[in-house]
Amino acid sequence: MKMPYEKPIVTKLQTGWMNKYGRTFAYARKVRTEIDGVGIDDLVGQFGSPLFVYSERTLRRLYRQMHSAFSTRYPNVVFGWSYKTNYLGAICALMHQLGSWAEVVSAMEYQKARALGVPGEKIVFNGPHKPRAALERAVAEGATINVDHLDEIYDLEKVSLQLGRPIHIGLRLNLDAGIYPQWSRFGFNLESGQALEAAKRIKNGGKLRVHGLHCHLGTYLMETAPYQRQVEKLVGFATDLERTFGFALEYLDLGGGFPSKSRLKGVYLPPEVALPSMDEYAETIAQALSKTLPPGEFPRLILEAGRALVDEAGYLIATVGAAKRLADGTRAYVVDAGVNLLFTSYWYKFNIELDREVGGMNEHSVVYGPLCMNIDALDEGVALPPLARGTRLILSPVGAYNQTQSMQFIEYRPAAVLVGERGQVDVIREAEDLSDITRRERVPTRFASPPQTGP
Ligand SMILES: Cc1ncc(COP(=O)(O)O)c(C=O)c1O
Repeated sequence: MKMPYEKPIVTKLQTGWMNKYGRTFAYARKVRTEIDGVGIDDLVGQFGSPLFVYSERTLRRLYRQMHSAFSTRYPNVVFGWSYKTNYLGAICALMHQLGSWAEVVSAMEYQKARALGVPGEKIVFNGPHKPRAALERAVAEGATINVDHLDEIYDLEKVSLQLGRPIHIGLRLNLDAGIYPQWSRFGFNLESGQALEAAKRIKNGGKLRVHGLHCHLGTYLMETAPYQRQVEKLVGFATDLERTFGFALEYLDLGGGFPSKSRLKGVYLPPEVALPSMDEYAETIAQALSKTLPPGEFPRLILEAGRALVDEAGYLIATVGAAKRLADGTRAYVVDAGVNLLFTSYWYKFNIELDREVGGMNEHSVVYGPLCMNIDALDEGVALPPLARGTRLILSPVGAYNQTQSMQFIEYRPAAVLVGERGQVDVIREAEDLSDITRRERVPTRFASPPQTGP
């Protein structure tokens, strides 16, 4: 039998790679024909491509694992679902059904949480921009407000004056826990004395009481030790606050930052090897709390995990529209989803799976999105066999920060579906059409007539 001809490929060895297969061969050629038992063909046939697909089973599993890791080690744990990570209504509603509060960072997110039925007392309101009206609403509804800066303190003092009663607030702190670059933009700095000054100002104002501390160290923290330093510093500061100003602490909010099993660009080891388990994060935090808190005191521990709870539950199905060669001979594919839908592809290298077995040699390839912009590359180096038009790529994990940052730049945003535990598929966001783009636009009547023919 005559064998098909396969073009040989010569791949340049690059220094710095750990072996001759290098990083780019890590994800070659895995096949995925279904998500939680629902066929990729069926999903695309019914809802089109590209398509965001979320797994309810995975969402529930991630929540259960993280919740049990913490609640078995500390008696007073509350999760605040980080809306910005993914505020699709269905995802938020599921998180709330599982027991999460809402953690919001804008008036828009606050409104969304309330519209989903979350009571104010179960909303943690963070963020550097809280308009006065939003603050008034949050105070009236009993939300937990973590103050970002002095101007917010002045605003809240005015609200307190209006209401004729003191207001309880949390202070957001930034501190050195060994994370670089340090997120110093948000809240009051601890080490410089700024946080203590703020507390003094609050005490002297006489209208606000500090009843909690908040600190979010950053995202995708690959070690547990920063959380230990964070707890030590926060509890130390809480002790100072109580002693100096008589502010008693009701909660410690450690923010989020727990990594998902996503793969940061430039990290060689797979996430399963490179990252501590959720139990290790929980153990570090629980140990630090038990060493630093006074015996018998268990202030509410608020955790605002985002990516760790949703990233692995999200997939994006995309379709190859064209195969081409770049001027230097590199194989390139154009697919129907790009950075317009997967903003985080600038930092993370997604798993790319194929919906079918494909013969032929793996070749170093570039995967481009549909945007007519040079920046639109989903993967600049992945080993792929020769893909025919129509082949589906299943990219994962994409559940965190992609849906919320997706944009109507050049293309519509696609549908999102949730695969339920019994294999039922629900549309949780419809695909957009032109009306979504034009709904809020207004064309002045003098431009309304169609273009004239002729010169
Ligand atoms: C205040 C706050 N809390 C929670 C989160 C969620 O972070 P992560 O997705 O890393 O858990 C963020 C994300 O930036 C944040 O800014």
